Amino acid sequence: MFDRQKKGDRAVLVLPHSRGEGDAVRRGEEFAELVRSAGAEILASIPARVEAPNPRFYIGSGKADEVAEAVRALEADLVLVDHVLSPVQERNLEKHLKARVVDRAGLILDIFAQRARSHEGKLEVELAQLKHLATRLVRGWTHLDAQRGGAIGNRGPGETQLETDRRLLAERVKMLTKRLEKVQVQRDQQRRARLRNTVPRVALVGYTNAGKSTLFNALTAGAVYAADQLFATLDPTVRKIDGLSCGPAVIADTVGFIRELPHDLVAAFRATLAEARDADLLIHVSDAADEERELLARVVNSVLEEIGAGDVPQLSVMNKVDLVETEPRVDRGDDGKPRQVWLSAATGAGLDGLRVALGELLGGERIRAGLELPLSAGRLHARLKAAGAIAAEQVDELGWHLDIDAPRSVLAPLVGDDAHSGSLRELIGQDQADH
Ligand code: GTP
Repeated sequence: MFDRQKKGDRAVLVLPHSRGEGDAVRRGEEFAELVRSAGAEILASIPARVEAPNPRFYIGSGKADEVAEAVRALEADLVLVDHVLSPVQERNLEKHLKARVVDRAGLILDIFAQRARSHEGKLEVELAQLKHLATRLVRGWTHLDAQRGGAIGNRGPGETQLETDRRLLAERVKMLTKRLEKVQVQRDQQRRARLRNTVPRVALVGYTNAGKSTLFNALTAGAVYAADQLFATLDPTVRKIDGLSCGPAVIADTVGFIRELPHDLVAAFRATLAEARDADLLIHVSDAADEERELLARVVNSVLEEIGAGDVPQLSVMNKVDLVETEPRVDRGDDGKPRQVWLSAATGAGLDGLRVALGELLGGERIRAGLELPLSAGRLHARLKAAGAIAAEQVDELGWHLDIDAPRSVLAPLVGDDAHSGSLRELIGQDQADH
């Protein structure tokens, strides 16, 4: 009963639209794409003009008849409506169409359920699905009984089933909530461990299909996990990237963003999207070949605002340059910093440019210089060593003779207020003056 939509569904799509609502054709295609990725077969798409929603069906009753006729003629078993329906409208439509009806929120949940890769993500999606289902259960699926003739005689057994369903649902929600809390505590600990290790964190965000996962795999290909304790325990959607001038960083892949993501779904994915909120830098991936890319980027940014990640610095990546007549390149802002990288995650063209840009944005430039510390500077020496900033060292009765090799962003937080930090501060400052 928790799995209302199964693979191999034969579906009729209903595409409500109103005047002045933008590109209805494009929206229809996008919805069809979502439906296909949920594994359903599309038998027909029926546009439905909705200026004033009909409280009973959301779409007009004449249109509902037309859909019912299509369902009957095509022997469809599922109707997917590209709009969020109230539980009552969904039930009324199911009764009228004699087929299962799933609205946009239900479909998106289904897709998220299929795509969630992390343990936490899976728990979050199941929880959101159950909550979505609960609003539909409360008023009951008793119409299925009612169809068999009169609500009054059927109410007893129908309610018993309903009570059982509700109790099972409530128990599962409670269990999932508890498990999720536990996973979130673990994840917070991992995140704090990463913070302590001053490893810069990057998160990939972008509209669905922009190419985030392809880029994620291209950037982390060949990464070794098992040897490294810190990274070995991380979620599979968080991996290490090497080969950056700032030293290693971790990168997280997030779920794809979709327009009109229902608000309670965004809330449910808060924890998964925490990777975006806590990142030092977001790589905002767009499909360079998509004419609507600017609009879609605005959708992504408004979801980011909603989850509190609106202020995290972004590097824009225009992916799929192989599909447009554009060479890979790095665009820089007035301050000289990388702003936008044009590349192809699929062919690998331009990936080096992205690595350079990431190294610059995450680490600032690298500082390579000698540093002399007296033997009494043991604490500062230990801090430098723990941060991996010492490339070579010698010690004698005069003190430590160190070769420092580290990004400025790693060295800067190591400057303390003890007497010996002055030489490190000087090193950072002097190096800056040299550039
Ligand atoms: P969601 O999981 O829906 O958020 O998608 P995503 O952003 O992770 O996109 P994904 O990496 O799955 O790529 C979407 C499609 O674009 C796939 O069919 C990829 O093969 C294709 N793709 C990704 N990068 C490129 C590219 O550089 N060039 C071309 N031509 N296709 C690409």
